[in-house]
Amino acid sequence: MVRKEDKQKQLDQIAAEIIKNNVCPDLAKTAKHLVFGEGNPNAKIIFIGEAPGRHEDETGRPFVGVSGKFLDELLTGIGLDRRDVYITSILKYRPPNNRDPKLEEKIEFWPYLQAQLEVLRPHLIVTLGRHSLNCFLPKATIGTMHGQPQQWQSYALLPLYHPAAALYTRAVRQTIIDDFALIKTFK
Ligand code: URA
Repeated sequence: MVRKEDKQKQLDQIAAEIIKNNVCPDLAKTAKHLVFGEGNPNAKIIFIGEAPGRHEDETGRPFVGVSGKFLDELLTGIGLDRRDVYITSILKYRPPNNRDPKLEEKIEFWPYLQAQLEVLRPHLIVTLGRHSLNCFLPKATIGTMHGQPQQWQSYALLPLYHPAAALYTRAVRQTIIDDFALIKTFK
């Protein structure tokens, strides 16, 4: 079993490589911080969002804005908190004005997410939103597959709506709450 501290060191190295390798230089130029991800290096569950927003860019931490508050509530609802899980996004820099991530940006960051997964080896990958889901399963549609456990390589993967979707549509809020309950079965 790799020690938690050693896993954290390996994660820090991956973050340093993103900077050293000048990944997505245009995004790096406009972003204030790299938002690599954070949480428990021994977490069994990893949450993968789309890209940092304004608050994440300001702080360098994932999911600390309004969607992050809802994610915290969802975690509390199933008896977990941020210290039990690991949270990251596909893109590690904020796209200007929170525009959608471009395909080439997702492709550029993909190997670093793979490296994160190699270190963390979670039991469950939870994708948040369609961008994250489609990086793993390109043909999957969030509307029909949310809340239905999938297999991706050696991992169980649970597609969920992005918490931000709940801010716009009340029905989606309840759907996310219901889907979230499934996470408990993987603990
Ligand atoms: N949305 C994401 O997908 N990631 C974040 O870190 C914040 C909001």
